[in-house]
Amino acid sequence: MKAPLSSQDHPPTCCLLPGGTANAENNRQMFSRIAHRYDLLNRVMTFGRDAAWRQAAAALAAPKGCRLALDMATGTGELAFLLAGRAEQVVAVDSCPQMLSIARAKARIRPRASRFQFLLADGLRLPFAANTFDCVATAFALRNVADLGLALAEMHRVVRPGGRVVCLELTRSPFRPLAALHALYLARLIPALGRWLTSQAEAYRFLSISLSQFPDARQLAEAMRNRGFRRVGHRLYRLWPIALHVAVK
Ligand SMILES: C[S@@+](CC[C@H](N)C(=O)[O-])C[C@H]1O[C@@H](n2cnc3c(N)ncnc32)[C@H](O)[C@@H]1O
Repeated sequence: MKAPLSSQDHPPTCCLLPGGTANAENNRQMFSRIAHRYDLLNRVMTFGRDAAWRQAAAALAAPKGCRLALDMATGTGELAFLLAGRAEQVVAVDSCPQMLSIARAKARIRPRASRFQFLLADGLRLPFAANTFDCVATAFALRNVADLGLALAEMHRVVRPGGRVVCLELTRSPFRPLAALHALYLARLIPALGRWLTSQAEAYRFLSISLSQFPDARQLAEAMRNRGFRRVGHRLYRLWPIALHVAVK
């Protein structure tokens, strides 16, 4: 099957990032520093639960018969690999070359390697025509993009009418004692783990900061409706600060 676009068809990502967004550049640099240990940290921080959350996201995003799926901000490709178990073709984009090169290396030794295409591209300016994909999924990325509204608008633009969009993301628990416990874990333990395993405490301190500035699950659902999505729903994972949103274009 012909891929929707090759990375040669558009300029390098640095040109695609919105002009002067120091945020986006800082973000890219931060992920380039932790890329080599990103998967390990995820496993350790979540006690291995992150794989099950992505599995649930992939299952929700790509029902049977899904032809072409997009993983927006794929990082090291974990969600893309799960989508490939359900969709005929998966295109995965990210703006950080170091994260992508790990995803590509992993893809080479995966079954169904021909199903993936990893592209360097900005989620805020996706290099695809409107209505290209049967589904779009993203995991742990919306907190990191420089403009949440624009990212949602782009995901809405590139999915076909009736196609699903799924967002897996950290969230603040509505149950206060649990939220306080999560805040402590994210602000204290995670940066310590980050320092120990990657020497990058700062990058992992960003996790708790970005979450404190991110909409809660209801607000994110509202933001999705405001961008034109229908049938927006979400589930919270009781003990974890995790939300899974699903919507239809
Ligand atoms: C926390 S990681 C999540 C990676 C992966 N989706 C996962 O499930 O682990 C966030 C990713 O978002 C990417 N990212 C941030 N802003 C982006 C943008 N504007 N366009 C594309 N990727 C972006 C980063 O490079 C990074 O790989």
